[in-house]
Amino acid sequence: MKRIAVLTSGGDAPGMNACIRAIVKAAKSNNIETLGIYEGYTGLMEGKMKVLTTDYVDDIVGLSGTILKSARSKLFRTEEGVKRAIRQANSNGIEALIVIGGDGSFRGACDLSKYGLPVIGVPATIDNDIAGTEYSIGVDTAVNVVTDTISKFHDTARSLISDTPRVFLIEVMGRNCGYIAIASTIAGGADYCIVPEVPYDINHMCSHIKNKFEDGKAYNVVVVAEGASSVNDLKTQVDTVLNIESRTSILGHLQRGGAPTVTDRFIASQMAIRGVELLIEGKSNRMVGVIGGEAVDCGIYKGINDKNKISEKLIKLKDILII
Ligand code: F6P
Repeated sequence: MKRIAVLTSGGDAPGMNACIRAIVKAAKSNNIETLGIYEGYTGLMEGKMKVLTTDYVDDIVGLSGTILKSARSKLFRTEEGVKRAIRQANSNGIEALIVIGGDGSFRGACDLSKYGLPVIGVPATIDNDIAGTEYSIGVDTAVNVVTDTISKFHDTARSLISDTPRVFLIEVMGRNCGYIAIASTIAGGADYCIVPEVPYDINHMCSHIKNKFEDGKAYNVVVVAEGASSVNDLKTQVDTVLNIESRTSILGHLQRGGAPTVTDRFIASQMAIRGVELLIEGKSNRMVGVIGGEAVDCGIYKGINDKNKISEKLIKLKDILII
């Protein structure tokens, strides 16, 4: 094998650059050249690519986002789009492709593999909802950002006196997965947490908050996963039941920013190296992951068809810590 390519697709995630860097280095150590494809599958169809040298990727490890940029393409979802991409891959001497992204990106990779291009998926999404791996690239940084933000709410709220009880409702990302919400509640010390995996009961939540007020705590920080409810809907209910004026914040895209944590850089590097190894072993349609600290791999369809489930243990841990 002489030349492979890498692209990033879907939502960007901190640590994608660490992954690109490690792919280039792992390939180079096996005398393989790496082409970086810009703008995801759109760039592949349009031939937007260039050779990534080790020198070029040396200092991108600490940069958030993706130097290759990311895009969602409607054309690529058609047969014509996939054929275009294959023509570009062939004319640029691409012998195999590594796709860094989420389940939608992996689906695109599988479409390409039907035309004989070997593909490997590397899971990257702050949502951490991809099956076959305990961690996806980006989630650790996102959880750290949210944890840090919760601490900042504590900083301002701590100044309140108990005759002005206040509730802060903080909406966090994750699509239909509550991992960011639960992990940051545990690490950041929130008072309540709502996730899509567990149906919430507004009366249970409000009596929990009320008990804390009665125990003398002047404020409550509630973390709400976007897949469970919007904070605005929740505010209406909380304000009615508790007869207060709660404060809302939607953290939004800042959760995808910030320098990738050491953990994200490590995970990204481990997965990248396993991905290149798989290609050298002649494998295709595999997805790499990390389980118990070790790089593993599984069929890419697991990452496409299944979802990572939040464990009962994690939910229980959160339930104990919000008391
Ligand atoms: O999948 C990552 C993610 O950040 C989700 O948590 C969020 O719902 C979505 O992407 C936001 O997408 P966009 O960047 O297109 O607004």
